[in-house]
Amino acid sequence: MAFIFEEPSRTFNEYLLVPGYSSAECTPANVSLKTPLTKFRKGEEPEISLSIPMVSAIMQAVSDDGMAVALATEGGLSFIYGSQTIEDEAAMVRRVKDYKAGFVVSVANLSPDMTLADVLELKEQCGYSTMPVTEDATPNGKLLGIVTSRDYRVSRMDPATKVSEFMTPREKMVVAPSSTTLKEANDIIWDNKLNSLPLVDENDNLAYLVFRKDYDAHKSNPHELLDEHKRYMVGAGINTRDYAERVPALVEAGADVLCIDSSEGYSQWQADTLKWIRDHYGDDVKVGAGNVVDGEGFRFLAEAGADFVKIGIGGGSICITREQKGIGRGQATAVIDVAKARDEYFEETGIYVPICSDGGIVHDSHMTLALAMGADFLMLGRYFARFDESPTNKVNVNGTYMKEYWGEGSARARNWARYDLGGDKKKLSFVEGVDSYVPYAGSLKHNVDQTLAKIKSTMCNCGALTIPELQQKAKLTVVSSTSIVEGGAHDVLLKSSTDN
Ligand code: IMP
Repeated sequence: MAFIFEEPSRTFNEYLLVPGYSSAECTPANVSLKTPLTKFRKGEEPEISLSIPMVSAIMQAVSDDGMAVALATEGGLSFIYGSQTIEDEAAMVRRVKDYKAGFVVSVANLSPDMTLADVLELKEQCGYSTMPVTEDATPNGKLLGIVTSRDYRVSRMDPATKVSEFMTPREKMVVAPSSTTLKEANDIIWDNKLNSLPLVDENDNLAYLVFRKDYDAHKSNPHELLDEHKRYMVGAGINTRDYAERVPALVEAGADVLCIDSSEGYSQWQADTLKWIRDHYGDDVKVGAGNVVDGEGFRFLAEAGADFVKIGIGGGSICITREQKGIGRGQATAVIDVAKARDEYFEETGIYVPICSDGGIVHDSHMTLALAMGADFLMLGRYFARFDESPTNKVNVNGTYMKEYWGEGSARARNWARYDLGGDKKKLSFVEGVDSYVPYAGSLKHNVDQTLAKIKSTMCNCGALTIPELQQKAKLTVVSSTSIVEGGAHDVLLKSSTDN
């Protein structure tokens, strides 16, 4: 007979945290959200830790290089989506690793033979008024001069005037070597009263521009997630089919950690993929696996060598797996069960394999609940899709700004590898996800700051200054359906949603 779990499978919404004693030290300023990303032995430190317990979902609509830079700046990590060619995914990883905060690769460039009319047209097109002049009008060509709006007077000059006649020539420009730090560049800008400073390589080829206004915006953030060369850290999604080609390309591009992206990960395919990586790279390449929803699935992937294990089937906001196939488990129950297995495995082996709660986080309070239930970090799709930094279009739907957000199992994403169960078929015979809109919510930083403030405040209510302490001390209660009504504003007439 089939095994029937005794407990119903529950979602985050069905739980509340019951406060514990808070000492005078329990203030949000004293809370650390540092958390392990990869497995470690008892008494040792994980090779990679996150400064905040958030990673962005392995999805076309969420994690490109722009999202990765924005999230690493705040201390989290993105997993670049794998449902694209190996070359394109590796190029995104490389762009994150090459990114230097405050160093801009020039978009609007001129050659000396272009005319004032060309300058005005380019300015109109791209909105920039600082235009380097390079030999071949490329962003990394030999630097010959610069044009800003101080160099020409439209009313007095012939539009056919050549750039070479009115540009500020190279010999009159202040430039600095490309090895200059952002702080040094900023000092040169102030000392020379410049608006921008071009950085050149040893052959006088243009490398970057640094702008006066960018220093404050990019002063280093104490939480930013950097590798030992001070480059942003980034993860990348892989699948159980083309790993022998994809993994080397991503490692070569500089990916710090990989994750097998699959809707259901308790499978031989995942074990084979992990084995291939261990055989070829030992423990040097970090790789997470999943998704699972019970202790058995966790143990299988932990024993197969996963650096972390991801939990969640059917709970994602764009996911219709449970409807389509009748598989999955309430996310809260899944996290609690897997956390128990993680702790047992740690007791037995002395190896701590972090777990990630993936999907189904709707409110900020769900994040604290997931952490309290034992998750080491959280993977979020819908949450990040709403921000400026997600790769999708911002659209006006009936007067409200929305961002597009579609599932990897939708017809739009065509990510057949995520739902692969072997065989030769290279297409989805039915969908497991939808194409949707989510309300546009502004910048990542603003939203993440607010969310973290709430998490820290709740942790203080529970008397916890760290995530492990929260997991030890948390007291959770299942709520009745009537007490859920009591939890929101009720029996009052709300004046305006913006006042609340
Ligand atoms: P969200 O944070 O609730 O939006 O869930 C995001 C998670 O849903 C992802 O990290 C994936 O694990 C999962 N997911 C992504 N696309 C699909 C899909 O099309 N069907 C089912 N699950 C999906």
